[in-house]
Amino acid sequence: MKKLNVLLLGGGGREHAIAWKLSQSENLNQLYIAPGNGGTSQLGINLIIGETNFPEIKNAVIENDIDLIVVGPEAPLVKGIREYIECDIETENVRIIGPGRAGAQLEGSKSFSKEFMTRHGIPTAKYGKFDASEVAKAKEFLYQMEPPYVLKADGLAGGKGVLIIDNLKEAHIALDEMLTANKFGTAGETVVIEEFLDGIELSAFVLTDGKSHINLPSAKDYKRIGVGDTGLNTGGMGSISPVPFADEEFLKKVEERITIPTINGLKKDGIAYNGFVFIGLMNVNGDPFVIEYNVRMGDPETESIMPRIESDLLELLWKCGGEELNQATIKISESSVASVMLVSGGYPEAYTKGKHISGLDQIQHSLIFHAGTTLSETGYETSGGRVLTVTSFGSDIDQALRTSYGEASKLYFENMYFRNDLGFDLIKSNQKEEA
Ligand code: AMP
Ligand code: GLY
Repeated sequence: MKKLNVLLLGGGGREHAIAWKLSQSENLNQLYIAPGNGGTSQLGINLIIGETNFPEIKNAVIENDIDLIVVGPEAPLVKGIREYIECDIETENVRIIGPGRAGAQLEGSKSFSKEFMTRHGIPTAKYGKFDASEVAKAKEFLYQMEPPYVLKADGLAGGKGVLIIDNLKEAHIALDEMLTANKFGTAGETVVIEEFLDGIELSAFVLTDGKSHINLPSAKDYKRIGVGDTGLNTGGMGSISPVPFADEEFLKKVEERITIPTINGLKKDGIAYNGFVFIGLMNVNGDPFVIEYNVRMGDPETESIMPRIESDLLELLWKCGGEELNQATIKISESSVASVMLVSGGYPEAYTKGKHISGLDQIQHSLIFHAGTTLSETGYETSGGRVLTVTSFGSDIDQALRTSYGEASKLYFENMYFRNDLGFDLIKSNQKEEA
């Protein structure tokens, strides 16, 4: 295999973790990250290009003789980065990890993904879909559902477009706000109303070239800002991998009932798909149901997944991009990994940036993935709501978390906050099983 020049799009903790893994490959010539962050600047060359600035991305691909583009976030995929690169004679031979616009609809449109699952018999919550001309019909549909009511803006809403409401009257008000008052802008012009799934959430990750697939480690993230899964939703306050309650039997059900029908469904629908599939799942009494698809890796799930991959990730991605994934296998570590996210006080609402980060040189037992940092003359500074993950190995999740919390206590920036209870639900679910 020739040594490759790789361009990784994105600038969060997920991209730092992917960059960290790619940079260990003997097959790597030079890694570029656009725009990257303080952490990725130590592993490759950061390019000051926005992740959806397609003309500049294309120029960078040509200028740096890029062989492979790895797309971190969803926005460039939904906007059509694949088509932009593939349809240009100067870049048509560059391999890309990430689906085209049609495949990206699995994430970009809730109604598209619900229709896809229904068409291909993939287990998911029952639903109805309504636009602004159907408010009365939507309310009628709500009457027939049991509370809690799940209302979703159809389009991309940065993880904020889902409302779970206990009371019918409030659900009606929320529906009016979405359909009539455009609370979520164009993303909420169509609303999906779903049956509530009662269970424990986790995610499965798959790499596919549209014909074959490889299962990546399962993971679980913690979305709420507050201890005990309370308060506002965030991009993710931490993650663990593997998920202790996702045993072999459960993962076999995921493979047979969801992963294979998803890949076959894409094929039947004539949608070429090359990239990651992130399957958000609810475990309802041992049976998996799809909550959502994403067409990229999760953040901060990736921070706990990458350290568990023992194989050469670049080789896997190169084969995937060339539709040769049937020739690849993956080796995954038996160890558990946990990532604790350190965030700026105030996040996910207003917070201040530019705070000096101290203690990084004291870290001995964990990996640090930067989510929102910049490197200044005086050291690393915060530049986002989510700032760093402290990622550790352990023989089980509990031990991995303990190491992360021990190392987190060595780090400091003004108003630093993290959840100190990650894994609390696993202990509860163990007790349930033992009871
Ligand atoms: P989504 O953006 O579709 O992933 O939804 C965001 C979050 O809302 C999920 O991570 C779940 O915690 C919750 N959620 C979404 N759909 C359902 C459902 N049908 N039943 C229960 N919880 C749900
Ligand atoms: N951690 C959830 C996501 O990446 O969407």
